[in-house]
This record gives sequence, C-alpha cells and structure tokens, in this order.
Amino acid sequence: MRTRLKTALLGTGFVGRVHLENLRRIGQVDVTALGTADPDQAHKLAAEFGIGRVETDYRRILEDREIDAVHICTPNSFHAAIASDALLAGKHVLCEKPLATSAEAARQLVALAAEKKLRNCTCHNLRFYPLVQQMRRMRESGELGEILVVQGTYSQDWLFLDTDWNWRLDSKENGPSRTMADIGSHWCDMAEHVTGLRITSLCADLQTFHKMRKQPKSPIETFAGKLLTAEDYHEVPIDTEDFGAMVFRMGDRTRGGFTASQVSAGRKNRLNLEVYGSKAGVAWDGERPNELWIGKRNAPNQTLLKDPSLLEPQARCYADLPGGHAEGYADTFKQVFRRFYQSIEDPGAEPEYPQFADGLRQLTVVESELESSRTHAWVEVPKS
Ligand SMILES: NC(=O)c1ccc[n+]([C@@H]2O[C@H](COP(=O)([O-])OP(=O)(O)OC[C@H]3O[C@@H](n4cnc5c(N)ncnc54)[C@H](O)[C@@H]3O)[C@@H](O)[C@H]2O)c1
Repeated sequence: MRTRLKTALLGTGFVGRVHLENLRRIGQVDVTALGTADPDQAHKLAAEFGIGRVETDYRRILEDREIDAVHICTPNSFHAAIASDALLAGKHVLCEKPLATSAEAARQLVALAAEKKLRNCTCHNLRFYPLVQQMRRMRESGELGEILVVQGTYSQDWLFLDTDWNWRLDSKENGPSRTMADIGSHWCDMAEHVTGLRITSLCADLQTFHKMRKQPKSPIETFAGKLLTAEDYHEVPIDTEDFGAMVFRMGDRTRGGFTASQVSAGRKNRLNLEVYGSKAGVAWDGERPNELWIGKRNAPNQTLLKDPSLLEPQARCYADLPGGHAEGYADTFKQVFRRFYQSIEDPGAEPEYPQFADGLRQLTVVESELESSRTHAWVEVPKS
C-alpha cells in the first residue's frame, strides 16, 4: 500500500480549481487545506470537494507538519514570497508560471530549492500534450533533421476590449510584462522543449493598444469581465503590453519568429507552434490538440490523430486514452502532477517535469524581450 501524500492549494480561482480537479485524478495525493484571499470562493470549493480546512493566511498552512507539498495558484506577485516561505518550511513546491516577477527572484528560488533539496516545479504544463511530446520525440529520433525554422503564435481575445479587466492588467500584481510573461512564456518553453535548443538572442517589439482601461469598481473573477455594464468602471492607465512580436536566433543556424497577443478578436486560446527541419516539418495548434500536421517536401503531408499506438514509444506515456478519445488542457496538469508526486515518493528519481530552473529560464527570456523592445535593439539572452 502506498503512503498517501498531503498537499495544500494556495489560490482558489480559475487555475486553482483546475489544479484541484486534476489532483483528484492522480492516485496518491490528498488535498487537505486551501489558502485563499477570497474565503467565500474557497469555502464553496472546500464544500464541493470535501476539504476540511480553509485559511486566509497561507503561513498557517505551512506550519502544518503533515503537509508534504503546496501548489501556488495566486496572482504572480505573490509567487516568490510564498514559494520561498514554503521551501523554508520544508514543503515541496509546485508553482504556477511565471515563477516570479523578476529573473533575480526566480534565481533565488532555484538556489533555495537546491539548498533545501526539495522538489520544485514551474507549471509549464502545456508541453505535456501528447502530440507536443510527439514533436519532441520526432526531433530527438532525427525524423525532422536539423532544425532550421521555428515559428508560431499564442493569441487570445479575452482582453480585447478596454472594458475587459483582470488583476493581470495591474503591473503591481502581475509584474512588468503581461502578454509575454503570461502566455509568451508557455510558447517559448514549448519551443525550447520541443527543439532541445535555447533562444540565444532576440529582437522584440511590444505594444500596449489600450493605454487606458476601464477597471471594474469591485473585483471580478478571471475571464468573467464580459458580464459588467458601463457604470461599474473607472479609468486607469496601463503599463504592460497587449501584444508582443519577436524574431530570434537559436544558436548559429536556427532562426525563428513569434507573436503573442491578448487582443486578437476571435482567437480564444490559439497556441500554434511550427518546427521545420531539414527532413520534415511539424505544426500543432492548441485549439485542435489531438491533431499533428507533418509536412514533407517530396511526399504527401500527413495529419496524425492522437493515438498512443501511433506515437513514438517515448511519447506514449503522455497519452492515457486510446485513439479517438480526445485529451486536452486538463490532462496536461494531470501529467505534470503525476510526475511531480512520483518524484516526491522516489527521492532518487530524475524530475521529468519543468522545474524552477525552467521558470527562471523563461523569466530570463521575458526580461530580454522587455530590454529589446525598450532599446529597439537585438539582445543576447543570458544563459540563466
Ligand atoms: N498553467 C496555466 O495554464 C495557467 C492558466 C491560468 C493561470 N495560470 C497562473 O495561475 C496563477 C493564478 O491565475 P488565475 O487565473 O487562477 O487567477 P485568479 O484571479 O482566478 O485566482 C487567483 C486566486 O489567488 C487568491 N489569492 C490572492 N492572493 C493570495 C494570497 N496572498 N494567498 C492565497 N491566495 C491568494 C485569490 O483569492 C484567488 O483565489 C497566475 O500566476 C497565472 O499566471 C496558469
């Protein structure tokens, strides 16, 4: 009989619920406490999921010696302090992206986790779609050849109107980059993971279309802004980007281009990654995650439908359902959590999930993008 691990969820909003639901889908973990800044929201969640404890001060939860790990699902500005306190309290930490609001804060967390010898994960979950792993394994087995071109976009429209609002629009809660840190970091993590290459230099151009936005007079839930009316707002200046574009180099020969947008009408959550090698190309779209386009110069192109029996052997363990049964966004969290808790159970195991070092890596890229856009110049991305 396996010992059950105990965990706590800190932050009970949009992604907190996604974490809770997917923690329920893996065998060896019980969620025993919720930490929140919104007790009404948390008590509803606790009642629904049969969780006996809600705290408005996460430090009370960290004092509980029975709790092995915490999930940090709060707004970005709280991540570094909570992660640091959790590591100092001896907890393994799974933190949402971006890991912190600066690369320096993330660097300190990487060092602290290493010093305390505790498991640490940054939730770049999107790399765990089965067909994203298929792209990675096709590259590793040499099917794509030398990687020449990497391109794509991450486009959304939920902040399209100047009346759309979320804490992400307040740089004090969000950090200095919005679109590039919030969704661009997922794309860059995926591009580096699939290609096995690093973005070594970049030239970025960021734009804030809505320099003023209408903030609701009372707090609203993430993605719920469409329900408000005109008299519920006041005007505030915005200092983070709605859109970012960059061209980049991955070493001497590989070249790429990428855009990220939160104001592209009709694009709900389109993460598109295309990787072109000297033998073949692959393209994947997060709005159709169970299909992979495979492109050939001298043969018909193919569309691979997700089916574990047709995936590269190393990619099969990321697909839990047979062909024809779709796997999506929620499943990527399950795949991360399963590997994170397995690594807690087996202290000798290699961590097979994105760690704090990967969160630091993406904040280093984000800071390079901010610098490049500010100076109108190419920037060498530090190795981090
Ligand atoms: N990996 C992904 O796919 C993904 C998707 C969405 C959000 N996220 C990340 O998750 C985080 C949360 O985003 P969200 O959309 O769920 O936000 P949200 O506003 O829906 O939820 C935030 C929650 O944090 C709570 N909170 C605020 N301060 C707190 C504190 N000091 N202690 C405890 N709880 C506190 C709030 O009460 C709320 O429950 C962000 O960092 C975001 O980047 C990741």
